[in-house]
Amino acid sequence: MRLLMVAPPGAGKGTQATRLARHYSIAHLSSGDLFRREVAAGSDIGRQAAGYLERGDLVPDRLVLDVLAPHVLAAAAEGGYVLDGYPRTLAQAQEAYEVAGRISGVELQAVVHLEVGRDELRRRLLARARADGRVDDTESVIGHRLDVYERETAPMLEFYAARGLVVDMDGEQTVEEVFQAIVGAVDALRAGLS
Ligand code: AP5
Repeated sequence: MRLLMVAPPGAGKGTQATRLARHYSIAHLSSGDLFRREVAAGSDIGRQAAGYLERGDLVPDRLVLDVLAPHVLAAAAEGGYVLDGYPRTLAQAQEAYEVAGRISGVELQAVVHLEVGRDELRRRLLARARADGRVDDTESVIGHRLDVYERETAPMLEFYAARGLVVDMDGEQTVEEVFQAIVGAVDALRAGLS
């Protein structure tokens, strides 16, 4: 199975992707985690990406494909993936779609869109800030990340909707309820695909 999670910061992409990966025995590829790992390792890519992550801005596209492409191709060859955070802009979506169209068995099969209101997103991210201290979970950066999502990421949904890939989910339910709803929708899709 090859899935993409699309949702604003704090909506539960990582939480649900972790569970979906375990459930379907597929790889969970979090672009944010991959970048945070590069930053922690002090690699060349990490040094270039660090400021963007801290400000809540998107890392430039030229770095994104270099980091993500090898992981996506390897995961597709090994049974599938759930992508969490990539593609994240219309340009990234178009490029990934074009590349995947040339390689059999790599293209997306479903896009899971989690819908959560802005107040609840802020509440979750500020709660996580108290627990984890993630560098971009501060009041002002959270607001900026939500704006970046609306401006840069949300328009991508139309691109996927036009290809019949989007499944809309109420992300304000409990973690378990959201998970069960996604599995129900994905299993129905798989039945249609086979
Ligand atoms: P990334 O790591 O992708 O961060 P994000 O999109 O801001 O997402 P979050 O991790 O904050 O939220 P989430 O939706 O995963 O929610 P979670 O499950 O953690 O990206 C970070 C940065 O990397 C970007 O700003 C950018 O700089 C860079 N980047 C990454 N990809 C890029 C790309 N493709 N191009 C360019 N730059 C890129 O949940 C949040 C909290 O809520 C948790 O505490 C969780 O326990 C809780 N929670 C989850 N679900 C529920 C629920 N149902 N009910 C109650 N609480 C819940």
